[in-house]
Amino acid sequence: MLAVMNKKTIRDIDVQAKRVLVRCDFNVPQDKQDLHITDDRRIREALPTLNYLLDHGAALVLMSHLGRPKGKEAKYSLKPVAVRLQELLGRPVQMADDVIGAAVTAQAHALQPGDVLLLENVRFYPEEEKNDPAFAAQLAKLGDIYVNDAFGSAHRAHASTRGVADYLPAVAGLLMEKELNYLGGALENPKRPFSAILGGAKIGDKIGVIQNLLPQVDAILIGGGMANTFAKANGYAVGDSLVEEDKLQVAREIMQQGATKLILPTDWVIGDKFAADAQARVVDLASVPDGWRILDIGPATLKLFEQNLRAAKTVVWNGPMGVFEFPKFAQGTLGIAHTLANLHDAITVIGGGDSAAAVQAAGVAAQMSHVSTGGGASLEFMEGRILPGVEALQNKN
Ligand code: 3PG
Repeated sequence: MLAVMNKKTIRDIDVQAKRVLVRCDFNVPQDKQDLHITDDRRIREALPTLNYLLDHGAALVLMSHLGRPKGKEAKYSLKPVAVRLQELLGRPVQMADDVIGAAVTAQAHALQPGDVLLLENVRFYPEEEKNDPAFAAQLAKLGDIYVNDAFGSAHRAHASTRGVADYLPAVAGLLMEKELNYLGGALENPKRPFSAILGGAKIGDKIGVIQNLLPQVDAILIGGGMANTFAKANGYAVGDSLVEEDKLQVAREIMQQGATKLILPTDWVIGDKFAADAQARVVDLASVPDGWRILDIGPATLKLFEQNLRAAKTVVWNGPMGVFEFPKFAQGTLGIAHTLANLHDAITVIGGGDSAAAVQAAGVAAQMSHVSTGGGASLEFMEGRILPGVEALQNKN
């Protein structure tokens, strides 16, 4: 990991006997029926920051959003997170009934070093997403110092991710630092060759990333639904595949710009319908029949991608190669995950969201240099955009 972040972190400040207001991204997936947390990675990834602060004599007031509630909807309560966090921290976690107000303020002010209080979902108040200054000021009253460790929400300019920084000394947590150093290190100062793998359904979502990465990378390998649009732009028939007709021209321009760097599929796995039990066939680039749809990259493409990746010293991956939720169409995505797991001499950085899910499904997450906790945030970072939650933090020196 290369230190590229120029923001102060919790290591640069004294937190002894301070109340530290920490924004985490505890927006975790839950079972719809019983609200059981189905993936607690975002909670576990927050532990280094929380343990560091507790070990250095702080009391913690934690805040996060969960989902996209419309007002105070009970199913979006952070209570299940408090329970899981308490197990992982091995110490009591108090759960507040609200986000702001007299009772919560009293509860926060009563905390002693080593105590932990989790506020309710900050999105129970519409003022959160509006970055309302009065709401941010109320949140700020709960702490002496603000720590933003919510990389996954750093692309949001909300009260708890951006506004609070106007009222308190504001520094980064250790997860925020790790994310920015890995993603920023890969993009700003990569060991070469540097390859990016981009997939997912739509070119529309990735144009900014492709344009930002093209000048910096040695190769971009393209798979997933977005490869269909490139294939069609090159004149190939794509049957019933997902295609963005309005992006054909953009695809042509990208291919011109990136002529020598873009590596596109040469074969596919196609299905006769979009379903787990679809009939599956391997066909070459030019042989997609009417009525069939492209659902994965084919074995020759996987081999081509593997050849490129075996030589790479830095790899960034964002977006699956196919519909990997369906086992018949998962080989491309899982194959890439296993290839990256076997690169022992390269830095491998996995964007959050679906690609993080893919390396977990392949059982190789631990073999990656870094798996981001941010979906939208890592995408915006790769587009070269400034993240408001990061920008607001104090600079070093
Ligand atoms: C995420 O899951 O990407 C973050 O927690 C942000 O959530 P949001 O897209 O609802 O703002």
